[in-house]
Amino acid sequence: MDIIPLPFQVKPSPGEFRLTAETVILTDLPNRWNADYLQSLLAAPTGLPLPVRLSDQSGTNFIRLHLDSGLESLGPEGYRLTVSPQSVTLAAPAAAGVFYAIQSLRQLLPVEVEERLPVSGVDWHIGCLEITDRPRFAWRGFMLDEGRHFQGRETVLQTLDLMALQKLNVFHWHLTEDQGWRIEIRKYPRLTQVGSHRLGTRKGFTNGKHDGVPHGGFYTQAEIREIVAYAAERHITIVPEIEMPGHAVAALAAYPELSCTGGPFQVATHFGIFPDIFCAGKEAVFSFLEDVLDEVLELFPSPYIHIGGDEAPKKRWKDCPDCQRRIREVGLKDAHALQVYFTNRIAAYLDSKGRHAIGWNEILEEGLARGAVVQFWARGRKKLVKAIRSDARPTVMSYCFYTYLDYAYKLIPLRRIYRYEPVPNGLNAQAAASILGVESPLWTEWVPTRARLDYQAYPRLTALAETGWTPKDRKDLRDFHRRLPEFLSRLDRLGVHHATLEEAEPLRILK
Ligand code: ACM
Ligand code: ZN
Repeated sequence: MDIIPLPFQVKPSPGEFRLTAETVILTDLPNRWNADYLQSLLAAPTGLPLPVRLSDQSGTNFIRLHLDSGLESLGPEGYRLTVSPQSVTLAAPAAAGVFYAIQSLRQLLPVEVEERLPVSGVDWHIGCLEITDRPRFAWRGFMLDEGRHFQGRETVLQTLDLMALQKLNVFHWHLTEDQGWRIEIRKYPRLTQVGSHRLGTRKGFTNGKHDGVPHGGFYTQAEIREIVAYAAERHITIVPEIEMPGHAVAALAAYPELSCTGGPFQVATHFGIFPDIFCAGKEAVFSFLEDVLDEVLELFPSPYIHIGGDEAPKKRWKDCPDCQRRIREVGLKDAHALQVYFTNRIAAYLDSKGRHAIGWNEILEEGLARGAVVQFWARGRKKLVKAIRSDARPTVMSYCFYTYLDYAYKLIPLRRIYRYEPVPNGLNAQAAASILGVESPLWTEWVPTRARLDYQAYPRLTALAETGWTPKDRKDLRDFHRRLPEFLSRLDRLGVHHATLEEAEPLRILK
């Protein structure tokens, strides 16, 4: 009954609370969603009725969901969970905190609570305590690359449920890639008609032929609306990523006139960094991207929209008359400055719609628009620290050698990701406030199935979740190892094909 991520403060007290046939769920929240969610979580495994009632009624044995403005100092996601022999109170200043209190309550109950059918012979008890809890970071993210391998609705919904269990709150959805365009855009049907299918997938680490097995798939706008709503109920913001100017071969296969050369192109079957990217000289490219973003903004209420920006080779731009004309006309130094121009134009467009651009750290060059958020993944740490110090550059930390879930466990064992410290050395407290939080990406070149996805992500994402939530001085690897087996046994019941602790710590320095 140990909680992951470890709460801010836990005070045990004597006695136990028992779920019984008399237990009722009381709520004073403006809508019943949290109460109904809790009811469905607990009623299935316990077989108990657990009726939901409005809070002014009472009982001798109840779980109470309570909005309490007196707890505002805990912040918008904080909560207090109090267990006494007669009652459990989940109190928070806002609904998000109540939701997180439910996730903690879940982990205070025996692991069988994760079963979806009644389990007999379980004593549904919770030891008395008081938990006061709040997250360290506002951005606690997981990124799923669906460009390389399309996973589909079921996997995404389950991902959101697992994120909620771990109090993660940003699902960064990487929807466009060289190998596939995965989001329906009504104005440009060829993006999915052409761009969502490829003829095959590279085999092994050779440059030889692809496997000849077609791969494809995309999300309709109706599916996206359903997924965004499902996430919102779980207090998860979906940050969609539309890659530009690089990693765009699937889009160029559909609309080759948006490239520098005019193509033709095929949706990529191999992986890597491709020279053909969106042209930065042609106005049609900006109209296209603004049209695409208009539909994206309609679907995703997120304040942040990810525009990629990584791994964009400048070769085509150097050879393209349109790009060169742009460089001359705007008075830019070179093709690198052209990417800053490109990013700033898109960032300004998003700004005009009340949103913020976020991009991989390659966008961080001299002249980058002030509000643009940087997601740090590789190289240029000094440049980043300087930008944080001098411009309070908002930043999300995803340093690849600590947080990338596609890397093998030999390279990034569990303890390595657990020990990742998102605030770079040398920042004072005020500068450190520019670190919005931490995120683990899962790139899926070698992740064709849900089972593989689970294996790469769990339990490393669980370690990242604790870094995102738990105060730095409360984190302890040994204690995390001690708490983990029970959490893994919850994941087993949720059908997650996680790596075992032995697989996740192949170097075995502990015990
Ligand atoms: C990245 O891994 N190319 C952001
Ligand atoms: Zn060009």
